[in-house]
Amino acid sequence: MNRRHFNSIIAGGLAATVVPPRWLRAQADLRVSGDRLTAHLTALAEFGKNPEGGVSRVAYSNYDRDARAVVLDWMRAAKLEPSVDFAGNIIGRRAGKESELKPLLFGSHIDSVPQGGNYDGDVGSVAAIEVAQTFAEHNVVTRHPLEVVVWQNEEGGLFGSRAVSGQLTAAELKTVSNSGKTIEQGIAFLGGDVSKLEQVKRAKGDIACYFELHIEQGGTLEAGKIDIGIVEGIVGIKQWEVTVTGFANHAGTTPMNQRHDAMLAAARFVEMVNRVVRSVPGRQVGTVGRIQAFPGAPNVIPGKVVCTLELRDLDDAKIDVLYGRIKAEAKKIGDQNGTQFDYNELHVNVSAPSDPQMRKIIADAAGVLKLSSRVMPSGAGHDAQAMAQIGPMGMIFIPSIGGISHAPKEFSRPQDIANGANVLLRSVLAADQAL
Ligand code: GLV
Ligand code: MN
Ligand code: MN
Repeated sequence: MNRRHFNSIIAGGLAATVVPPRWLRAQADLRVSGDRLTAHLTALAEFGKNPEGGVSRVAYSNYDRDARAVVLDWMRAAKLEPSVDFAGNIIGRRAGKESELKPLLFGSHIDSVPQGGNYDGDVGSVAAIEVAQTFAEHNVVTRHPLEVVVWQNEEGGLFGSRAVSGQLTAAELKTVSNSGKTIEQGIAFLGGDVSKLEQVKRAKGDIACYFELHIEQGGTLEAGKIDIGIVEGIVGIKQWEVTVTGFANHAGTTPMNQRHDAMLAAARFVEMVNRVVRSVPGRQVGTVGRIQAFPGAPNVIPGKVVCTLELRDLDDAKIDVLYGRIKAEAKKIGDQNGTQFDYNELHVNVSAPSDPQMRKIIADAAGVLKLSSRVMPSGAGHDAQAMAQIGPMGMIFIPSIGGISHAPKEFSRPQDIANGANVLLRSVLAADQAL
């Protein structure tokens, strides 16, 4: 049997006239354990659990560290050989039959946003381990070496995956993360070593491909009653810290027409960002997600405000155009009350299209499993966009109930999670043959 024939059986269904050998039929029937997926997700949800539901398991917190220890155990049980790389990523390796082939990667992340949910990242991480465990239990040996990856600090800005794709800059290591630790300190906390980050970098062509299963985080699949989303591309994301400088003065004695109120300018800025982003057609989004006034007292006119600005779109050039317009409008706001706007770029995730061959593999896998699917963009950032810099990338989405994510009420149904994991499993097998 040649490879194309094999592939059509694994990914695209069985040609009517051909009877495949028993070992191949066994692979076509492989399914993950939905019960084990649920048990692992339930166990992960204990780390950083919040009383209102969901978790606050921000990267480099004790909860993050403790959950990662459990992930290492699960990887060992799945007969993977796990280790922590110099960037703090967990990589579980499994040998392939053809050791000269580049590794085939799949995984996700287990860090969360503050007050996040139990599914973002967790689903793709436990599913990746589950796929490996299913292979181990059924003695499936792939051609390619496999690497199941749990990336560190996805939520802060894809720090682990961008270290591997070579996009992480030295300056970013000083960024203070949500845990209070800098990226540098956080990487050391997880067992990495920033002095050796060069060694984790991989060049284009160093991986066979990368797959990631993830919850949609929007409501498209649920609303359309569609089982599987095939990601066509992941948005580019740019974030800045914006400092508005005015003049702090007495809130009782300074007349209203003599104030250089940084908070007032910042309020106008928030409204203006929304207006500018909505002023052109498209799916672009813009957000001011954090804001702090200084000195921060009821009886002092704020002399300084520090806030964030985030812009996202599939087209990085459009982000730049919007940013230019926002800066010009902010200058006008500042001129009105004698305040000044300054911008410090926090980080950039460049947009990434998925690979057409990976999309086809995922679509075929869904079809064979009799799951409905549609091609769709991802408005959320993912480690997959860093991996797209170094190899073919494919992403699988499953429905998020109510389109809620980055919130305690984030939920995906166990059946959808098992469906997604089975699509991942078949996609890995198909790519293993096709590449
Ligand atoms: C990650 O979840 C992001 O889209 O910010
Ligand atoms: Mn995520
Ligand atoms: Mn997220």
